[in-house]
Amino acid sequence: MFIKDEVKYRYNYHISPKQGWLNDPNGLCWFKGKYHVFFQSNPFANQPGKSYWGHVSSENLLDWQEEDFALRPDQDYDCDGCYSGSAIELNDKLFLMYTGHQNLSDSYKESQCLAFSEDGINFQKVSNNPVIENPPEDNTNRFRDPKIWKNEKNIYAVIGGESKENRGQVNLYRMGETFDNWQYQRKLAIAQKKDGIMWECPDYFEIEGDTFLIVSPKGMQDAGINGFASVYLQGDFGFNQTLEGYELNLIDLGQDFYAPQTFWDPIEKRRIMFAWFGMPGLQEQELKKQVGALTLPRVVKNKNGKLLFAPLPELQQLRTDEKALLPFDTIEDYSEIRMTPLNRHSNFLLRITSKIEGSSYQISYQDQKIEISFFDSLRNVRQSQKIDKVSELRLFLDSGLTELFINDGQHTFTNKCELIGTLAIEISGQLQAKAYTLRKGIQ
Ligand code: FRU
Repeated sequence: MFIKDEVKYRYNYHISPKQGWLNDPNGLCWFKGKYHVFFQSNPFANQPGKSYWGHVSSENLLDWQEEDFALRPDQDYDCDGCYSGSAIELNDKLFLMYTGHQNLSDSYKESQCLAFSEDGINFQKVSNNPVIENPPEDNTNRFRDPKIWKNEKNIYAVIGGESKENRGQVNLYRMGETFDNWQYQRKLAIAQKKDGIMWECPDYFEIEGDTFLIVSPKGMQDAGINGFASVYLQGDFGFNQTLEGYELNLIDLGQDFYAPQTFWDPIEKRRIMFAWFGMPGLQEQELKKQVGALTLPRVVKNKNGKLLFAPLPELQQLRTDEKALLPFDTIEDYSEIRMTPLNRHSNFLLRITSKIEGSSYQISYQDQKIEISFFDSLRNVRQSQKIDKVSELRLFLDSGLTELFINDGQHTFTNKCELIGTLAIEISGQLQAKAYTLRKGIQ
């Protein structure tokens, strides 16, 4: 079935499948000269289904080439979906660790599986799958999304879960002598009641001596939309300790950001994050117009224990031309706008409207508060955040995707808004703005 024509808008430089549904980024890595990004995909419909692992590769994180599916739901243990997971290089091979999802008559089973590849393109599932068949005793059957990593001595995986008291939790496993031998260690963190019934897509890493855990909680009370959000915890996850007293930090303040995953880029020595440009539940309403996409790659930085998510520096290479924006101007819907307030107390406003869709997106800064408001045929949204000082804003636009980075990723807002066609710009207040047209990035 070919369903491309049902979709009205395609993206220019965001990773997005040629057809069908996309959700979480998976298996992010650099392997044998290329960056690899996998993603949850249902190639047969513009809605979630039995997940495949879609695959794109790139030499520069800008120009992406579509590869064949890496995983298909073709075994008993993953017949209802090859759910989210991650990648690791071991003995010159690329291993993918993922969750096999299998529906049972009145429930479902989730177990952890492995596949490997010599060339990073063709994958083979190991014969002794699932390598972790059952969750720990204190975890329900919600047991998924292994994120695998190695330190000097051992290989570990964190696996998302739900406690028997219906709280999100993160299970830590260690690999034994062989890749099919995994031992449960302990919990890394357990959610307080208000913080979600299940913690999906965990990620664990260290930056400059601090350790961080990322999770995407389901059913989180303060999450805003639909009870979904993505957060990070910073803490000492010391070896016999379960983090229960923690502070949750929202990773992104927008409406359409979920299931982020990071990986270590061994070439440029930095940690990069991608996320699903979407949110469970909301996405379905938008399907006739847009297919799913991943966010732009963001560099994860540690600033005194707080994380910043900055746009990848190489994104500047997408720029084809540049112009200083006048108070009333126009730009294409595949552009970047870079804004610099004239001084730290500047108040300003930038409004973008699309004639075709009758939609509008606005950024205003007043009394040290930034407000993002937008409306289109689906939503009317207003969000704000106190920020003492705004030194730079960069807004990426791509056929209805908007990614706003404030102060090099101190705050980000990821939102879908139907900004399509030639866009009208209005600027007022003490703001200098430049626009760059961006070239295509996906084949
Ligand atoms: C998060 C998630 C994961 C799961 C995948 C299935 O969006 O629910 O927990 O592995 O999507 O597609």
